[in-house]
Amino acid sequence: MDNESFITVEDAMKKGTGKVGIRGWVYRIRNSNKFVFIVLRDGTDIIQCVVKQEKSPKIYDEAVKLSMESSIKLSGEIKKENRAPTGYELDVEELEIVQNAEPFPITKDFSEEFLLDNRHLWIRSRKMNAIFKIRHTVIGAIHDFFRSRSYYEFEAPIFQPNACEGGSTLFEVKYFKDKVYLSQSWQLYAEAAVFSLGNIYNMSPTFRSEKSKTSRHLAEFWMAEMEAAWMHLEDAVQVAKDEVKFIVKKVLENNKKELEILKRDISTLEPAADKDYPTITYTEALRLLKEKKGLKVEWGKDLRTIEEEKLMELFDTPVAVIDYPKEVMAFYKPKRLPKPKTTPGDVALCFDILAPEGYGEIVGGSERETDIKELKKYLKQQGETPEHYDWYLDLRKYGSVPHSGYGLGVERVVRWICGLENIKDAIPFPRTMLRKSP
Ligand code: 4AD
Ligand code: MG
Repeated sequence: MDNESFITVEDAMKKGTGKVGIRGWVYRIRNSNKFVFIVLRDGTDIIQCVVKQEKSPKIYDEAVKLSMESSIKLSGEIKKENRAPTGYELDVEELEIVQNAEPFPITKDFSEEFLLDNRHLWIRSRKMNAIFKIRHTVIGAIHDFFRSRSYYEFEAPIFQPNACEGGSTLFEVKYFKDKVYLSQSWQLYAEAAVFSLGNIYNMSPTFRSEKSKTSRHLAEFWMAEMEAAWMHLEDAVQVAKDEVKFIVKKVLENNKKELEILKRDISTLEPAADKDYPTITYTEALRLLKEKKGLKVEWGKDLRTIEEEKLMELFDTPVAVIDYPKEVMAFYKPKRLPKPKTTPGDVALCFDILAPEGYGEIVGGSERETDIKELKKYLKQQGETPEHYDWYLDLRKYGSVPHSGYGLGVERVVRWICGLENIKDAIPFPRTMLRKSP
């Protein structure tokens, strides 16, 4: 069996008849005194392979000794077999054992924590393999979306001297004789770069020392962000809606098989690919919560998880919520002027996109404050030293223009699309307050 003669399990099943050579790992194995049934796994799929004692006694004797996750090469005749897990069966004529594995620690019914401790092995599971393939589509779709609209990809440093989203979740890092922080967002550098490139985007690791143990927070996650010169809030909201819809469409086009493996009900995802997403204000959201859900939220408080969940029971697509109270928002989100008559306090030109089915916030963004006095005032109010932001404040002095942007949480989107219980499964090796290995 030389290297050229191997094809993937997926291609072997596409071929469907004749002799094929495949290689991979023993996913499942079952013996009787006449047969060994090996379910072989490679990156593409699984397939049932049968070794017959009567036909090839020597291969049978080798095969009965195989353990789970052993690496092997096989060849033989492939044919349709409705009783096999993926509809095909390979009648083994040649077998080469590359490595007979030690007893595999993961068999079945292990706790979440055990699987996370053995993440380096658990990523071989069909579940994780399917999630990674969907994640691959999501990431590719984000690049395609922005590039097709002529946005330039632009990189910011990961070591940063400033906070973007407030000091409480910063990771401090020793930096020679000084200290810096790991990036909480690409945004502040993007605001500098729009003066050079116009419309830009990026996808990068992002770090927040989130002390809360929730199913939607990671300490290290990937954020896909955009920033555009001359853009106002309404257009940024529309771009974000278009992006989310584009991603969902791509997954439905490319990953039906993976969604099925994950037992994701596709009919609950389809509205996000087909329908328009509504926009409501924060103040309207509070009214809906009170009138339709009997939940009273005091105006001026940010929406909590439970409130987002209750609100989203009223919708079957993602929803953009705009105009959150200015006081609870980051320093760079400007006031809406004049103040709307219907709101008790000032609101900001900002938005979140909430996913349906209780998956919560997937996008956060805003127009950016252009008034240097306002920026300084809110930096101070949030306990920052405006002088540390001198370079950022410069941007308001040399040809300042209106601009807007947003960030989309890649794992939040993957979690929602895959229907995952916890965000930890949306990233290969999750990092949280309680987990930093493997
Ligand atoms: O709403 P956030 O904090 O917005 C920003 O960071 C802006 N500076 C982005 C911008 O305007 N360029 O974060 C954006 C998104 C959230 O909507 C959420 O999807 C995701 O990033 N996110 C997280 N995902 C996983 N774990 C965490 N700890 C996250 N924090 C935010
Ligand atoms: Mg947010």
